[in-house]
Amino acid sequence: MKTLAEMAVEVLNTADGRGKTALGRRYAAEWFASRAAGQPLEIGSATPPDRPARPALPELLAPRDMPRRRTGTLAGRLALLHAVAHIELNAVDLHWDIIARFTHIPMPPGFYDDWVKAADEECKHFNLLCDCLEAHGSHYGALPAHAGMWQAAADTRDDFLGRLAVVPMVLEARGLDVTPQMLEVFRKAGDEGAAAALEVIYAEEVGHVAYGSKWFNFMCGRTNEDPKDVFHALVRRYFHGQLKPPFNEEKRAEAGLPPDFYWPLADEAGQL
Ligand SMILES: [Fe+2]
Ligand SMILES: [Fe+2]
Repeated sequence: MKTLAEMAVEVLNTADGRGKTALGRRYAAEWFASRAAGQPLEIGSATPPDRPARPALPELLAPRDMPRRRTGTLAGRLALLHAVAHIELNAVDLHWDIIARFTHIPMPPGFYDDWVKAADEECKHFNLLCDCLEAHGSHYGALPAHAGMWQAAADTRDDFLGRLAVVPMVLEARGLDVTPQMLEVFRKAGDEGAAAALEVIYAEEVGHVAYGSKWFNFMCGRTNEDPKDVFHALVRRYFHGQLKPPFNEEKRAEAGLPPDFYWPLADEAGQL
């Protein structure tokens, strides 16, 4: 029987997008079946790769070299769906990576339940977006994609709390801020398929941010530190972008992310 950490590393080392998500979904089902049977898979330990395996395409470009397209055209909307598919594939790897990388830190089984569920949902999100692209005669890999998405993972490879702060509580929370406008774009264009996929993503991403804040608070409780102060210090240290309003305050609150976590960081970015 494979351990959960070994399964996670296997997903990380699978290059093909659809292949990666198929394996991820299968292993997630195995984890939950083992939990339901009262015989959970061992967490074990395994060494995740520095960079997850990825397909030969899309070509990865620096953000400044990415072509800009308007969302008023089908080509522009396909570029947007392609960019989101790329984010989702990165999220698949990010979640399997956090499962495999920090097994030396003892965590309750509920932590792994949450992260396997999040990883499984990212697999679903990537597949949904690939379906949308394919319905329009395109596919993941047809356009260039953003290089450097693994940077947040690389920067926090030795810092579990840093990873929780930057990935679910900054990057995935940012997703909650921008998804409503994206939904509008596809609704206006009458692309019901894409709008339905984005609805699923929007609803499930609230959960991912919530898992982040739940386990971040749990870890701060272990050391009796103020989670807000720890969050501020870690984001300043590891996050090189800007926290920019407007924030989706309602969804952030639903995910357990209060304004005094993110507003002070946005204010100080505005003063620089
Ligand atoms: Fe997602
Ligand atoms: Fe997510």
